[in-house]
Amino acid sequence: MRILMVASECFPLIKTGGLADVVGAVPFALEAEGADVTVFLPGFPTVLSGLKSKKTLAKLKDVAGEPAKLITGKTAKGLSIIALDAPHLFNVTGNPYQEKNGLDRADNAIKFAAFSKIAAQLAAGDFKIPEFEIVHAHDWQAGLTAAYLKAMGRDDIKTVQTIHNLAFQGNFPKHIMSNIGLPDEFFRDYGLEYWDKVSYLKGGIVYSDHVTTVSPTYALEIQSDASGMGFGGLLKSRGQDLSGILNGIDLDVWNPETDPDIAANYSAENLAGKAKNKAALQKKMGLRKAKDVPLFCVISRLTTQKGLDVLAGLVDHIVLSGGQLALLGSGDSTIEAAFLAAAKKHPTEVGVQIGYDEPLAHLIQAGADAIFIPSRFEPCGLTQLCAMRYGTVPIAGRVGGLNDTIIDASPAALAKGVATGLLFSDIDVHTLSATIDRAFALYRAPKIWAQMRRNAITQPVGWALSAKAYMALYADLLKAD
Ligand code: ADP
Ligand code: GLC
Repeated sequence: MRILMVASECFPLIKTGGLADVVGAVPFALEAEGADVTVFLPGFPTVLSGLKSKKTLAKLKDVAGEPAKLITGKTAKGLSIIALDAPHLFNVTGNPYQEKNGLDRADNAIKFAAFSKIAAQLAAGDFKIPEFEIVHAHDWQAGLTAAYLKAMGRDDIKTVQTIHNLAFQGNFPKHIMSNIGLPDEFFRDYGLEYWDKVSYLKGGIVYSDHVTTVSPTYALEIQSDASGMGFGGLLKSRGQDLSGILNGIDLDVWNPETDPDIAANYSAENLAGKAKNKAALQKKMGLRKAKDVPLFCVISRLTTQKGLDVLAGLVDHIVLSGGQLALLGSGDSTIEAAFLAAAKKHPTEVGVQIGYDEPLAHLIQAGADAIFIPSRFEPCGLTQLCAMRYGTVPIAGRVGGLNDTIIDASPAALAKGVATGLLFSDIDVHTLSATIDRAFALYRAPKIWAQMRRNAITQPVGWALSAKAYMALYADLLKAD
């Protein structure tokens, strides 16, 4: 089965969040199931420089007004990539979608329409490579791919749109219709039109054969007005063709037995190495060296989605209760400032690193006792999966994929010995504060805590099951004709 994945990020070539992790990992799991997967990416500088065995597949005369090239190549791990080398669109450094001042880049509408159009042409075999049977587009950046295939009359090529986060919709002024080469009639209610704008994500939802999102709970949540972010009704109307397939993580990239970025390797059978990582993390973050205090962590975009504004108000509570906090992240300046102020106030107990640091993320997962993910909504979430793989206990909001992947330490779950973390509903100071108290109590019951860590580290968090679910979905779509 030939599958073209269309996405704007792919680890390790370009990453701003979990989308990259998914696109960089799921193809290997699909290939293990017999699929033949190619990933189509924008030619950002790190994408082009990170590819091995590069060849020019095609020279294109006019992509959004300028010449461009299609480049084939492989990632270091051997994933097949095709990149759209169009410097006038993608020669940007830093965040691919935003300027340094946090504003969206002015040409986002044009560049991602062009990207999706070429994706459709690639899938249709326009560039001397065999056609693809399945086109799997991710998020709004690839949202128009199915619309272009529809406009080309290629209903035979089956399309899947995955929503990684409904908060990012790719909505643009309607005048953009005259620049993106889609027929005017696509601008209609059951089409691209959304409150008199053009919505690329809506295009993916309306024109794809099937829509997935990244957890079963989020798939239900987004079919409601409360959590549908304006698309609740539309998604409900597509309920028959909408499913939630859980993300996994790359078990080679996240492996405490072999991880080169941590201070001591360890395994599910012997978690002793975690203590060395805790000491190394305390040192790295300038924290007081202490074995028996719970060391909490955060590795996240610092946004209200992630509920970290609420956690920022509870740092004193954590410290006064005898805990430490190591935080790595960047995002909203007010949330950054709140955590930096807390670190200044409690320099030996709170360490904050603002920025993006992949190796440090690994050391934190290995060294921390527990990770906070107090999200208001969370399509899937990957950091709880990485945490569990490293024997670190997640403390998370009961939403989306967090609900699907963490077993709360309720009295019943503790009695059965199956708890893997702590979940709480209602993201507010009172509930989170009570949950922090619950975590302290569990940490101070060493046998229970040890069991939770063991449960967490033995939880299956890879892609094997979900890859089978995607393969079954693709097979169903191909059977439909
Ligand atoms: P989202 O995609 O919503 O940001 P996920 O939990 O799905 O959340 O994925 C986040 C990914 O980004 C994880 O791989 C996490 O380790 C990584 N990450 C987030 N912030 C940082 C950071 N500051 N430094 C390094 N890695 C980070
Ligand atoms: C989005 C979501 C996150 C999910 C990731 C990968 O960024 O916010 O929950 O894990 O995509 O699917």
